[in-house]
Formats: sequence, C-alpha cells, structure tokens
Amino acid sequence: MVAVAILAAGRGTRMKSDLPKVLHTLAGRSLVERVLDSCSLLDLDRQIVIVGYHAEQVKQALSHRPEVEFVEQTQQLGTGHAVQQVMSVLARYQGDLLVLNGDAPLLRPETLQKLVEAHQNKQNAATLLTANLPNPQGYGRVFCNSDSLVSHIIEDRDCNIAQQQNRRVNAGIYCFNWQKLAESLPKLSTNNDQQEYYLTEVVDYLNPVMAFDAEDYRETNGINDRQQLSAAYDILQTRIKDNWMKAGVTMIDPGSITIDEQVELEPDVILEPQTHLRGTTKISTGSRIGPGSLIENSQIGANVTILYSVISDAEIAANTRIGPYAHLRGGVKLGESCRVGNFVEIKKTTVGANSNMAHLSYLGDATLGDRVNIGAGTITANYDGKQKHPTTIKQGAKTGSNSVLVAPITLGENVTVAAGSVVTQDVQDNALVVARSRQKEIPDWHQPEE
Ligand code: UD1
Ligand code: CA
Repeated sequence: MVAVAILAAGRGTRMKSDLPKVLHTLAGRSLVERVLDSCSLLDLDRQIVIVGYHAEQVKQALSHRPEVEFVEQTQQLGTGHAVQQVMSVLARYQGDLLVLNGDAPLLRPETLQKLVEAHQNKQNAATLLTANLPNPQGYGRVFCNSDSLVSHIIEDRDCNIAQQQNRRVNAGIYCFNWQKLAESLPKLSTNNDQQEYYLTEVVDYLNPVMAFDAEDYRETNGINDRQQLSAAYDILQTRIKDNWMKAGVTMIDPGSITIDEQVELEPDVILEPQTHLRGTTKISTGSRIGPGSLIENSQIGANVTILYSVISDAEIAANTRIGPYAHLRGGVKLGESCRVGNFVEIKKTTVGANSNMAHLSYLGDATLGDRVNIGAGTITANYDGKQKHPTTIKQGAKTGSNSVLVAPITLGENVTVAAGSVVTQDVQDNALVVARSRQKEIPDWHQPEE
C-alpha cells in the first residue's frame, strides 16, 4: 500500500511572485501537477496535497483531479510541520507514505517506482532519493554510515565548511513506513538556523534509512527561484526533444524549438527553427512545421506545411499549405489540400477540401464548401458592432479581389463575386454578383489649374 503526500504549502519566497511557487508552470503544466504525475506508475491509495499559502488558488488549480485530497497547513513552520498535518488524516493508515516536495517537477515516474520498490524490498523505515550534484549549494546534505545507510541530513545553511564539501544531496523525495514516521514526527525540534520543523530531522529517529541515488542527478532539481525554473525548463525540453528525435522526428536547430509535454508527433515530421508546439497539439507524419511557427491545441494532418504562422484551436486536414504569415484561431477546421497564404486571418471557420484563400483575407464565423476560391483581400464583415453574424460560401464559389461579404449572408454554389463588391444580400447558385458602381468615364476632362 502506498499513499502520497505532496508539500505545497510554502509561498516560495525566492520566486518573488504573488503566485504560489507550486503553481508556476513548466512547459504547460504547474509544478504541483508535474509532481502528482510523477506518481503515474504507482498504484496509490491516497493522494494528499498539503496546501497553505493561497490554499484556495492551489485547490482550484487541481480541482479537475477529484482523487486529490487537501490538507491545510495554515502556518508554514517547515517541511516537518507540513507532514505533521497529515497525521490525523492518516491515523489508521498502515502502508507506506511517499512524501514529495511540491517543487521537484523533473522526477520521472520510473525513478519513483524504483525508489518504492527498493524501499519495500529492504523493508526500510525510510528511503530517500539522493543525488551527487556538481554544485550542491542550497540543498540538504546526506551523510551516510556505510554506502547507503543514512545517519543525518544537514541543511546547507546548517553545514560547516567541511560538511558543505559533501556533494550528496537530499532531493526532498522520500518513501516512509507511515507508522514509523508517525511515531517520529512528534519528536521534531526547531533546533536549526531557520527555527523550523525540518522533515529531514526524522532521519535521526528512524532506522534503517536508505539513500537511493537517482540515475540522472538532474531529475532531483528543486525549483526555488526563476533561474532554477528556467534551468528546469531547459532540462525538460532537452528530454522531450531527445525523445521525439528518437521516435523519428527531424529537428533543425532544436535549441530554438520548444515543445510542451502533451504534444504528440508522428515519425517523419520535420520541425524547422523557431517552432513552438503547445498544449495538446498533434502533428501527423510528413508535415513540415516552421520556420517561425506557434501551434497551440491543434490537430495537424499528414503532409501539411506551415510556414511563419500562428495557429491555435484548429484542425487541419492532410496536404494543406499554410503561410507565410497566417493566423488561425478560435476553432478553425480546414479540409484537405487547402491553401492559406500571406496575411490571412481565419477565426471560428470551417473550410471544405481544395479551397484557397491565398492573400490578405479575413474569414470569421464562416462556413466554406469544397473548391472555394477566396480572392485577395476578401473580408467577411461579421461584426455589426454588437453581434457576430455567420457567412456561408457554398462549394465552387469564387470571390473577386477586395470583396466584402456583409454577414449574415449566404453565397450559393458556384457563385462568382465581382472584384470590389460589397455583397449585402444572399446570392443564388451559379449567379454572378456585381455589387459596386459601374465605371464611369468622362472624356476630355480638364484637370483644375494650380
Ligand atoms: C528542502 C529540504 C532539503 C532538500 C531540498 C530539496 C527540508 C528541511 N529541506 O529544502 O534537505 O535538499 O528540499 O529541494 O525539508 N513546504 C510546505 N510547508 C512548509 C515549508 C515548505 O509545504 O512549512 C513545501 C514547499 O512549498 C516546497 C517544499 O515544501 O514545495 C520544500 O520547501 P523548501 O522551502 O523549498 O525547502 P528547501 O529549502 O528547498
Ligand atoms: Ca526547495
């Protein structure tokens, strides 16, 4: 039996932020969510998050996870004090308790699984994740009797100069025999530089306590300030990008590319420099994205090209070409083999297959059929100052350059709109509509003299 308690009550003073530290995001997910997700390979009986600073905000941010229970630590008197708060909640609990710092977002699920396995195999009182850091500054140092039997943890600020030389650090990730921990928690003192109840002091009362080294020390990085947040982002990005490259994605200048963790890519996708993929974006095989594109929460079909464009909440079918300089947003669906060109903005619009809108257009709240050709500069005037109105353009219709379609309006199948028209009424199938004044020519016109 394993339960988890996540320490998320601290303010995170060193972040210099009004937002609780654990709600700062790293590649699309908050730190505390990342810590929760690092337990994904464990079969957890309980998931407890200890909240304090801006507790309501933290609860709200996790409200989509009904399995999470919250325990309040109204005053933040230290990590040991935080864990003392779960004693009443777990009074009759018999299993092991994982305690995780809410600011350690890089932990991999495999590592936690191994930590718990080692703990249970050895029947330890406590097992803690440790790492040998090139620069251990700021971390609690772990002192061992033998190779892995821990005797003490001393916080950086409580270490003397000799103790500071120890590079083996406490990651703030622990597996405890809960009953034994519960017996030790009341013994904690505040006998340290910060005069706080340190969870690490329980090591003095428990036996045996084992240190378990992380395979990759970077997993144990805690986030205390914005620099560490940014360093963690780099580590995570490298991890994400390496995985996609191993899975068959080509990246040109990966250092300039960013990819959120939930993004899914198929083999033979090519990502060009300065491409940013966010949220739940999925990209199918053969597509070439970038240079210079931002794609958010969008589904991109196979063999699509997207050049210097910004796309959010869109579904793009196969073989469509977008950009340069297109902006798609707010629920756009594009059919197969469409062409969206320079300076085209499309909002909340569905487009059939083989349709083109190649230059300088705005389409908002519109539904286009197949084989529609939107001439350069065509605009749907969808907003009357108060309300948005729909435009329907049926299959095979063609709009001339610089036409304005004043919504609500429907253009029938195979309609042709003359260039420069301002169309205000529905047009029936197969019609040509000219909605502009006829050209007038006055011969022998004398220009006024200067
Ligand atoms: C802690 C460890 C240190 C370890 C480091 C790893 C202690 C005493 N020290 O130090 O050995 O190397 O993590 O990153 O545990 N929190 C609460 N309530 C509190 C205080 C803190 O919930 O009263 C939470 C914070 O929100 C945070 C976590 O506990 O998520 C760790 O607190 P933090 O102050 O960052 O501890 P460190 O000084 O980094
Ligand atoms: Ca910390």
